[in-house]
Amino acid sequence: MEILNNLPEDKYLEIDDFLAFLGVYEDRKRLVAFKRALRKFRARVVVEAGAGLGELAEALLRTLRPEKLYLIEDNRPAYEYLKKKFRGRSDVEVIRGLIEEWEAPTNVDLLVQEFYGPLLYDESLEALSRLKFTPEKVFPNRGFLRYQVVDLESLDEPVIDRNIWHIFDNVLVSDLFWYFEDYRPQGTVLEWRYPELMRYDVDLSGLQGDVLVLAVEVWHDEEKLCDPASCLNWPFVFTPRIGDSFALEFSYKDGFTEVFFQWTG
Ligand SMILES: C[S@@+](CC[C@H](N)C(=O)[O-])C[C@H]1O[C@@H](n2cnc3c(N)ncnc32)[C@H](O)[C@@H]1O
Repeated sequence: MEILNNLPEDKYLEIDDFLAFLGVYEDRKRLVAFKRALRKFRARVVVEAGAGLGELAEALLRTLRPEKLYLIEDNRPAYEYLKKKFRGRSDVEVIRGLIEEWEAPTNVDLLVQEFYGPLLYDESLEALSRLKFTPEKVFPNRGFLRYQVVDLESLDEPVIDRNIWHIFDNVLVSDLFWYFEDYRPQGTVLEWRYPELMRYDVDLSGLQGDVLVLAVEVWHDEEKLCDPASCLNWPFVFTPRIGDSFALEFSYKDGFTEVFFQWTG
């Protein structure tokens, strides 16, 4: 989805942000996986960081029946929608703002979040390392960015052949090939375990193939909940493989993350 007309900058940014996460509601498998894993928790005070349109919040109320559910949402249109949706419920409080700036008025038993980007750390997971409160538990609390190297010929986009492939050198493109079904990760680039991000040394020198595929996996403890092959919300990311090692960096400021990618060797 894309905004096609000129708008004042503030309005443009809030609608653009709003549209950016609407795709999550088409992903029923992610909701089923999250709901199943949530049944194991017991919690009196629950916080959802980035509550969107409140789909997961409804599941939290039904499954956990918390005494209090705080919904923290930075996007204005989503916040206003949440206010209307949960109006009149004394067990739900909707708050506008960034989770990393929120001062919890009480102990938090469980923090729930869906801050994973297609490159793991390119949306808001970093914000969770700077919370002003310490939740007892976080769900989900773990994630990986995996890699796989494949041949261009094995992919399905007829327009992208060897003659044009190089225009994407050092460019990470999500969803470039639509029907990538052969997900067999060969290694790990990043691991996030609340609240820390860990990096692995990647050396592709023994691997054949001219396409690097990156895939985020959402985990809680030892259980995988989603990857791009199972859940629509997280696309595979593709780029030409023009070396054996690369740098991938993130810079987070005021709710916005920049991604830097470069082949290094
Ligand atoms: C994928 S959506 C969440 C969908 C939600 N779980 C649902 O079921 O409706 C992520 C939301 O997090 C919000 N968000 C992102 N970073 C945030 C931050 N640092 N603080 C508060 N909200 C944030 C976005 O505006 C977006 O609404």
